[in-house]
Amino acid sequence: MRNNGSGTTVSRREFARLFAAGGCATVIAGEGWTHAQTPAFAGDPSAGEKFWESVRAQFVMAPGLAVMNAANLCPAPAPVIATLERETSHVDRDPSPQNRARLSQAREATRRALANFLRVTPEEIVITRNTSESNNLVSNGLTFKAGEEVVIFSDNHPSNNQAWIEKGKRFGFGVRIVEQKNPHPGAAYYIDAFTRALTPAVKLLAFTHLTNTVGDLFPAKELCALARERGVLTLVDGAQTFGWMDVNLRDLDPDFYSGSAHKWPCGARECGVLFVNARVHDRMSPASYSAYPGAVGISRRLEAFGQRDEATMIAFAEALAFQEKIGRPAIQQRSAALATQFVEGAARLPGFQLFTSTDATRRGPVVTFVPGTLDRTKLVAVLYERHRIGLATGGGAGRSGVRVSPHVYNTAAEIDRLLAALAGYVRSGL
Ligand SMILES: Cc1ncc(COP(=O)(O)O)c(C=O)c1O
Repeated sequence: MRNNGSGTTVSRREFARLFAAGGCATVIAGEGWTHAQTPAFAGDPSAGEKFWESVRAQFVMAPGLAVMNAANLCPAPAPVIATLERETSHVDRDPSPQNRARLSQAREATRRALANFLRVTPEEIVITRNTSESNNLVSNGLTFKAGEEVVIFSDNHPSNNQAWIEKGKRFGFGVRIVEQKNPHPGAAYYIDAFTRALTPAVKLLAFTHLTNTVGDLFPAKELCALARERGVLTLVDGAQTFGWMDVNLRDLDPDFYSGSAHKWPCGARECGVLFVNARVHDRMSPASYSAYPGAVGISRRLEAFGQRDEATMIAFAEALAFQEKIGRPAIQQRSAALATQFVEGAARLPGFQLFTSTDATRRGPVVTFVPGTLDRTKLVAVLYERHRIGLATGGGAGRSGVRVSPHVYNTAAEIDRLLAALAGYVRSGL
């Protein structure tokens, strides 16, 4: 038996099957767990489950493990891990300035890949550590004063809301909160709620494209247009849409958009992005001054964080390429379809309550539910221990639930397995 690093053992037979499936282009060695990279997808998304199973085979999770927690952290596929390991050892084998010189070029290549992915220019991209840092670069970089206001949404992440509230106290500007309404009442409700909140004192609107609490999807393009007409800046927190949705920032047209590599893009951990629209570059002050800034546009002023880990950035670009290889519209549809499969099954379970909208146009692949009278914390523990299914508790303030967030490495069979396990516990208790 082999340990896969998450406590699961993988039999020799399973291991041999994985290894044989791969064609052995690259072998990734970890904590006692070895996995062969599988270079070829089985056809394209039109091949259905067969294709998606070949996508799953590129991830090093043990075959029996079904982790559906993409809203929190996604695993990187084999090509991304291989890139990270190769680039890390490249520096450790020869840390001379001469050998490292090409890394600053590689960092700029990642910037270009990010710009391409988000359909903007490299001059508008800052490579950060994660969404938290990206959001804080905005609240630290803009200057608001007493009498001015920022509008936030109640379900924004603390890196957004707490940051604005604390900075409001420090610099004297006001913060107005638009409350979440559950279940999602539709785009028109929020367009109206934000229209009423955008008084002449308001200078910035910060909302989340898709909430991590219950998966509410926001009409981002309409809200950005609404704000722009009123001279209000927009910060769109894209932690849950970057790498899930086929986002086109030129079309969405926010002033700022933030995201993390280690969520839906399945990149390496501790890398992120901040898009800063060219029209607001002159409004931004750096939050950090140091050596080694980025080479172009706003990154020259905002991205001076000292010594960086270029290996992570190069692996980030590899993750974006992996997504392009699958096809971004296909990724968006697949994750949403898995969520729909779960929503439809959960809605049939007696006593289950969904915090997430049953209307597929109002949600993304983040679904939160109350499992009837079952203890949610115990349920999450039991699902992992007995069924090898990894979910999270969550739901946001006043909405204590269980969260399911499936991605391309999950399969329709895993969703069925989860629903069957839930149905069993509804019948017989935990
Ligand atoms: C909407 C949203 N914003 C920001 C974050 C923070 O992301 P990170 O921990 O990668 O900085 C999260 C994390 O779950 C999130 O869901």
